[in-house]
Amino acid sequence: MKYLDSNQKIEVLALQELSPEEMKLLQRAQEISKNSYSPYSHFHVGAAVLLENGEILQSSNQENVSFPSGVCAERLVLGYAGANFPDLAPKMMAVVAQRDGEESWAGVSPCGNCRQTINETENRFGKEITMLFLQPGGEVYRVHGISTLLPLKFDDLKS
Ligand code: THU
Repeated sequence: MKYLDSNQKIEVLALQELSPEEMKLLQRAQEISKNSYSPYSHFHVGAAVLLENGEILQSSNQENVSFPSGVCAERLVLGYAGANFPDLAPKMMAVVAQRDGEESWAGVSPCGNCRQTINETENRFGKEITMLFLQPGGEVYRVHGISTLLPLKFDDLKS
């Protein structure tokens, strides 16, 4: 394992360094990316979330001809988790992406909207989410908690 950033917060791992639990989550994200509805971007994203009871939920990105109406895989799976399992904290999320017609996996990292949604989920349950982002060549970026991806975030109307 090495670090991507000088703060040594974004970990870079080889696939073999992942735990069996992490590997399973990544594979579930890969499987569900096949259901991506992405006729506009041709970018197939899969996200899998591990809940604290061990259950895994998954989603792909779902686009719309009115582009802003499309939803990222991360926000869909976290919305589903919150709607159906309101008492179970998400522990870990894996995200993968693949371009149309390509065998290899593309690099992926959540957009700003999704980062804010991940932040909301962490605040809701008072627990950090560990995130895995598959990169080309099989490296995996691992981040413990959204603060690393969203420093100085707005998350408290009272302060
Ligand atoms: N997308 C995701 O679903 N998650 C990400 O982390 C990056 C981007 C989607 C949005 C859009 O459907 C397509 O990928 C291209 O941006």
